[in-house]
Amino acid sequence: MHRLTVLSPAKLNLVLDVLAKRPDGYHELRTIFERISLSDRITLTGNKSGKISIQCAHPHVPRGPGNLAYKAAKLLSDEFSIREGLDINIIKNIPVAAGLAGGSSNAAAVLSGLNQWWQLGLSHAQLAGYAARLGSDVPFFLYNSSFALGTGRGEQIKPLDIKAKLWHVLVTPKVKMYTSDVFARLKLNLTNKKDNVNILLPFLRNGDLKGLAGALSNDLEPAILSLRPDFIHLKKKLLDAGAIGVCFSGSGPSVFACGQSQKHAYSLRARFDRRYTQVFVVSTL
Ligand code: C5P
Repeated sequence: MHRLTVLSPAKLNLVLDVLAKRPDGYHELRTIFERISLSDRITLTGNKSGKISIQCAHPHVPRGPGNLAYKAAKLLSDEFSIREGLDINIIKNIPVAAGLAGGSSNAAAVLSGLNQWWQLGLSHAQLAGYAARLGSDVPFFLYNSSFALGTGRGEQIKPLDIKAKLWHVLVTPKVKMYTSDVFARLKLNLTNKKDNVNILLPFLRNGDLKGLAGALSNDLEPAILSLRPDFIHLKKKLLDAGAIGVCFSGSGPSVFACGQSQKHAYSLRARFDRRYTQVFVVSTL
């Protein structure tokens, strides 16, 4: 039986500017995505039942049609009238509903895996179209690029030719936070809106870590903190441990810090209390 295993990485948002609320209910964004080394492993195996199934040991990952990887497979299977069934096995390392887009990354991995496997011949632009139908964060993962600019609702991607390799400590509280809940709490303040992307980009291009750390920003932070005011302490604890810049990723609750080096990132992790959190050292992928 045909089998394909792919890695499915997480992302961080180094900047997340919210520009406007759109008539379709989404928000217009300007964001810098970073692909990071924390990854799930997905194995696709063909089956003769004609059905799509999800296997995953993680208790919070849906095993049926609610799973984005399932939706990705179903979309292509229906569109191209594929008769073969598919077992999707997910080894979950990326925390769920944590602002790291693990589910979106899984969906992108399934889309590009099946494009090869089922020999669908979809162009990159066509795959990106299917990805955008599944979720705003899905298209980014189709690009083999460490950093990318995301606009629109986050689904319009421009890969950035930047060679930096960053080291981060990533702290994820053991709670789920849903993107829709966070956006629903957002109070848009558009006066004196800074272009945080163009403030950060030169630091990233020039490898200026201190500048980069000071330019991290996320407009969703007040909305995240309105749901969990106590999470401000995560930022403070990372700064107290010696981090040079700290920021929430996406719609939270994950917080990441920039380390000055791999060694520095590991020493930050060693100083962090892990009782209520998962703490990872990750790098740009
Ligand atoms: O696109 P996705 O399905 O991941 O979005 C989940 C929810 O997050 C949307 O239904 C919407 O409430 C919110 N969202 C938003 N603006 C975006 C992305 C997501 O309001 N740009």
